[in-house]
Amino acid sequence: MRATARAQPNIALIKYWGKRNRSRNLPAVGSISITLADLYTEMSVELDKGIAADTLTLNGEHNGDMLPRVSACLDTVLGTGRVQARIDSRSNFPVAAGLASSASAFASAVVATSAAAAQDRSIAELSRLAGRASGSAARSLYGGFAELRNCDDDIEVDSLLSVSDWPLQVVVAVTTRAQKSIASGDAMEISRKTSPFYERWVHDQQHDLDLARTAILARDFDKLASIAEHNCLKMHSVMWASRPPIVYWNTATLECMQAVRELRAQGTAVFFTVDAGPQVKAICLDSAVDVVRDALTNTPGVCDTLLTGLGEGARLMETE
Ligand code: PMV
Repeated sequence: MRATARAQPNIALIKYWGKRNRSRNLPAVGSISITLADLYTEMSVELDKGIAADTLTLNGEHNGDMLPRVSACLDTVLGTGRVQARIDSRSNFPVAAGLASSASAFASAVVATSAAAAQDRSIAELSRLAGRASGSAARSLYGGFAELRNCDDDIEVDSLLSVSDWPLQVVVAVTTRAQKSIASGDAMEISRKTSPFYERWVHDQQHDLDLARTAILARDFDKLASIAEHNCLKMHSVMWASRPPIVYWNTATLECMQAVRELRAQGTAVFFTVDAGPQVKAICLDSAVDVVRDALTNTPGVCDTLLTGLGEGARLMETE
């Protein structure tokens, strides 16, 4: 049987950085994210008793590099004695460049795989399975604003607000199309082992989560802006102080952050966040979209800007 699912990336406003259990890929901290609308990955999984090994195509081309991770994700959903699969993944945005492509990829992978095997799993179960492959993927099962919490020996994701409750907009400033220098999973381990700020980061996260959740539920843009930028810069400070240092930014990343800060100082409702890559995501109210996009398009070093609203969680598109 073959099933196709679609999922969008999500952007963390309160970040996940660091693992408390590497083999089960459990995060050290909770996180809060927004799921995007217009960037997506569509994944088809066809289980076929007639093939000896999984195959993977990414945007139509065979890809051996990602195959082990995707195969491991299928093992998590179906068990290791499973039937092999033909996997076809298509994304309408650059992969591995700090646009959270692993989130949309693994969220769509678990939904498609589970459906291809005619399983009947809840969103909460699918979210935990996606989290085993990529921590941020667990959040892409949910639309709008989602919070990932650590519970005893697993994770739980709650929906905080739906898309229509607070339809924020996101302008992504693409500052390079190159793949990132170091995968986030490896970088997190370097930070955990070497950054003098790591323990403090983990310790203070609950406070940041509480502030952000309260701001989101009250739709208080300024409070959310303040805590989200602080949390982002704190995560990058943990990275910068790691040995070797983990620096995902380029000069255009800094220029964009400065452009956003200047806009906000002039009264525009916008704030920035940056993940494990050099792209800057500017989150803004609908009324600010044009001025934010103009400013980022004209910022030196920006190769492109993308505009998207908030979207729904991962979903099944078809089964054959
Ligand atoms: O889920 P991963 O392994 O791609 O890690 C995501 C890490 C950040 O994007 C930097 C933060 C986050 O919470 O998404």
